Amino acid sequence: MRLSLIVAVAENGTIGRDGDLPWRLSGDLRRFKNITMGHAMIMGRKTFESIGRPLPGRTSIVISRDPNYVAEGCTVVANWESAKQAIPAGVDAFVIGGKQIYEMAFADVSRMYWTQVHASVSGDVEFSNVDWSEWELVYDEPHAADANNQFPFSFRMYDRMTSGR
Ligand SMILES: NC(=O)c1ccc[n+]([C@@H]2O[C@H](COP(=O)([O-])OP(=O)(O)OC[C@H]3O[C@@H](n4cnc5c(N)ncnc54)[C@H](OP(=O)(O)O)[C@@H]3O)[C@@H](O)[C@H]2O)c1
Repeated sequence: MRLSLIVAVAENGTIGRDGDLPWRLSGDLRRFKNITMGHAMIMGRKTFESIGRPLPGRTSIVISRDPNYVAEGCTVVANWESAKQAIPAGVDAFVIGGKQIYEMAFADVSRMYWTQVHASVSGDVEFSNVDWSEWELVYDEPHAADANNQFPFSFRMYDRMTSGR
């Protein structure tokens, strides 16, 4: 079972604004669906509420401190350890955000699906504190902006380098 992180980040680190994504990138949403389909997704309560429903074909695990929080069709857990335990056996899992959950999961993640948005975008949530010396770029696919994609972007994949390299 592999644990990966999937995120889209602007050049200035922005990932969110007003509880939502700060851009319109249909290519990135399509890629997100393709990569996560059939697997488990772990997210914070705020990210779950921004999506608004459990996404079909995937196990949704939502982290909240509120013991009474109910998210229909999802497994609600109280912390990161419980989130990992809620991943069905033999299933890959993706940490899908937001910032608070990326940070708590980061040490356990071995792969990052990183969409680099080639623009500086205003926002109120950032994810930028990555030590790049620990990560190897293994895939990089650039895309131009078009009618359905507000900014140019690159699909990148990074694997964590094993110690000793
Ligand atoms: N660009 C991207 O790829 C991307 C991806 C995902 C999200 N986003 C954006 O990021 C923003 C949301 O991110 P965020 O960081 O504000 O929120 P978040 O990580 O989605 O959710 C935060 C919530 O998670 C729960 N939580 C956090 N730490 C916890 C802990 N130690 N133990 C138990 N529960 C804990 C709390 O829920 P309770 O308050 O219920 O206790 C907290 O309010 C939105 O704008 C969203 O659109 C962007």
